Amino acid sequence: MTSKEHEGALWGGRFSQGMDPAMVPLNLSLAEDGRLWRYDLEGSRAWARALTRAGVLDEGELEKLLEGLDRVETRLAEGIPGDAPDEDIHSLVERLLGEEVGPVAGKLHTGRSRNDQVATDMRLWGMEALDDVDLELTRVLQALLALAERSVDLVIPGYTHLQQGQPVRAAHWALSHLWPLLRDRGRLRQARQAASVLPLGSGALAGCPFPVDRAFLARELGFDRVSENSMDTVSDRDWMADTLYCGSMVGVHLSRLGEDLILFASREFGILRVPDGFSTGSSLMPQKRNPDVAELARGKSGRLTGNLVSLLTLLKGLPTGYNRDLQEDKRLVFDTADQLRLVLPAVAGALAGCAWRPERVREILSQELLATDLADYLVRRDVPFRTSHEVIGRLVSMAEDEGMSLSSLPLERYQEAHPAFEADVKEVFRWEASVEARSVPGGTARAAVEAQMEEARHRLQP
Ligand code: ARG
Repeated sequence: MTSKEHEGALWGGRFSQGMDPAMVPLNLSLAEDGRLWRYDLEGSRAWARALTRAGVLDEGELEKLLEGLDRVETRLAEGIPGDAPDEDIHSLVERLLGEEVGPVAGKLHTGRSRNDQVATDMRLWGMEALDDVDLELTRVLQALLALAERSVDLVIPGYTHLQQGQPVRAAHWALSHLWPLLRDRGRLRQARQAASVLPLGSGALAGCPFPVDRAFLARELGFDRVSENSMDTVSDRDWMADTLYCGSMVGVHLSRLGEDLILFASREFGILRVPDGFSTGSSLMPQKRNPDVAELARGKSGRLTGNLVSLLTLLKGLPTGYNRDLQEDKRLVFDTADQLRLVLPAVAGALAGCAWRPERVREILSQELLATDLADYLVRRDVPFRTSHEVIGRLVSMAEDEGMSLSSLPLERYQEAHPAFEADVKEVFRWEASVEARSVPGGTARAAVEAQMEEARHRLQP
């Protein structure tokens, strides 16, 4: 066999035997990295310009290459040919460029390696993908804010251990899902900053022997800065790990929001209606109306976290420099970005159409939610909290035994339980009074919730 069998590959020269048929499909990555073609072209144009400025190419060659890259762009815009034999997107672009401009195409790879090339392509892709996800996440945040804005007057049970705990404004609940996702958006922005570092000029591992201006390359390609160490650069996938961590946190937060929506929409709670457009029915049970959007969102979290764990496992223990293992990184970050771009618009749409069912909320609000307020009532009359906790506990148990609500227990019972109780204890049995009592920043009082919403609006400003 001869090296002819490596025709088309970018590295055939030193081989005397062809690639084993079992190796061929394992070696291919075009199906996965094909989607990088625009970034590969962008990087190639910038590289051609940098080589020209460094005196490696002359102006005529540059012009030829740029025209050729434009023609390759036109061809690839129609789709990557299904029968392309090329190993990866970099090989495909170089082959097509050769078809368009002839041997001068072979000059473009001077001083460049696929190692710094793929790192560059991925970062260019990543910055755009992170911007997209940022936008979609912002839409979810806006939908949560809008839901909060129309939920200020409604008081719902607040839960701990999934047991009714204390009353809260429904707006407060909605905002409790806004803040985690807003923190995620901050993390996404940090990941984008981490991505915004130029690899080109690092070569295979040791840098570039031609005097290319890396600051110029960074400016041309929209990177904030230039990487510091060529060996680090060709294997640095930290920005991807950051991205996948953000993705898994978004997944975790959406799964918790989804779980609340599922519970709230169930017959047992029944306090919220997920819009029809985001629900599905059952092929068997005619009555079913399932909040699928929330379940699908909840279901994505395992996959998103899996992508993070896969990448960390992939990176662990790799020796310095580029290793082919790194080819596996792409499907993980592509998948996380794709899944987020799929799920976020649906969640935003569903939230926009969610409607409370106030009559049902009134049914499920248990007066026991006010037990803490009763305890606080005594505290305000100078009873130590531990004593008052004990007293209210006994009253709750008494009401339960007698099948009465706390508010219908006669005043005498209260006064028997503790002499500090007076007629105004009835005041405690107003949901508004309970939420209004918590007027500290971050609390449930109207002013505190308005302040939260104001802060959220401010942070959501473009
Ligand atoms: N397809 C490769 C990857 O994704 C491109 C870099 C190949 N470099 C190499 N030395 N074989 O990582």
